[in-house]
Amino acid sequence: MKITVVGAGAVGASCAEYIAIRNFASEVVLLDIKEGFAEGKAMDLIQTASLLKFDTKITGSTSDYSKTANSDVCVITSGIPRKPGMTREELIGINAGIVKSVSASLLEHSPNTIIIVVSNPMDTMTYLVHKTTNIAKNKIIGMGGALDSARFKYRLAEALNAPISDIDGMVLGGHSDKGMIPLTRLATRNSVPVSSFLSEERLEKVAADTKVGGATLTGLLGTSAWYAPGAAVSAMVHAIANDTQKMFPVSAFLEGEYDLNDISIGVPVILGKNGIERIVKIDLSEAENTKMQESATAVKKTNGLLEL
Ligand code: LAC
Repeated sequence: MKITVVGAGAVGASCAEYIAIRNFASEVVLLDIKEGFAEGKAMDLIQTASLLKFDTKITGSTSDYSKTANSDVCVITSGIPRKPGMTREELIGINAGIVKSVSASLLEHSPNTIIIVVSNPMDTMTYLVHKTTNIAKNKIIGMGGALDSARFKYRLAEALNAPISDIDGMVLGGHSDKGMIPLTRLATRNSVPVSSFLSEERLEKVAADTKVGGATLTGLLGTSAWYAPGAAVSAMVHAIANDTQKMFPVSAFLEGEYDLNDISIGVPVILGKNGIERIVKIDLSEAENTKMQESATAVKKTNGLLEL
């Protein structure tokens, strides 16, 4: 399994690192436009191989897409990250052009690839790849829900004073501060609903903290986060590479599911060797469904800024 990661910045490098360390891919190609940068990151990373015990080959490339040829999965992290105080939506002007040209270059050399989109505003960038390429919809996957759900579990564990491995939960909807829908009603600690342990007020705070998870880190770091985004991508790539059929919330193109059409937005899916094997329909409460429709309206508004 050959994986390409475009963008060797903090998020891209973190994706490459976690994928390599898990030792399930034969090769990871890291590509960037900055001269020598991806080669340097790749060399530094491969020098950890004997220490961390992995055999994944790592190749760095400055804009040479021929090195990415025949990739099974390509991850697009390119573009600018947000700075403190910015929303993900404000990045659209610069990132749309980048994501469009990167996906076209990738497809020239890997026509059968699955594409995972990380660049922000992620749901709109995922939609853009749908609209500007002819790849099947199951092969274009936006990374947001896997990350947001990890942040949700962290906040729940904090509120419960419990180990994170005890917690299960999902975040659906758009990958934006306002659009995320942490499903507090369905979250559990060892299959017991978290509402058995936490007051409604505390759960509302967990949901609010989850929704601004990225912004909180951007405020602390001065740029957007990378460890959890990289780990979320690596978990998704692992599920595809090993055909695990695991369930993840991802930004998927909808044609009627959740009463939505012509949009990429966060819903639960099964990931396997074909990318999105199927979209999972769960029964949302009336309030959750209202939030889903509102979140979709906001994503569509951002999509409307695309020059398609
Ligand atoms: C974040 C970026 C990846 O939420 O959107 O950290």
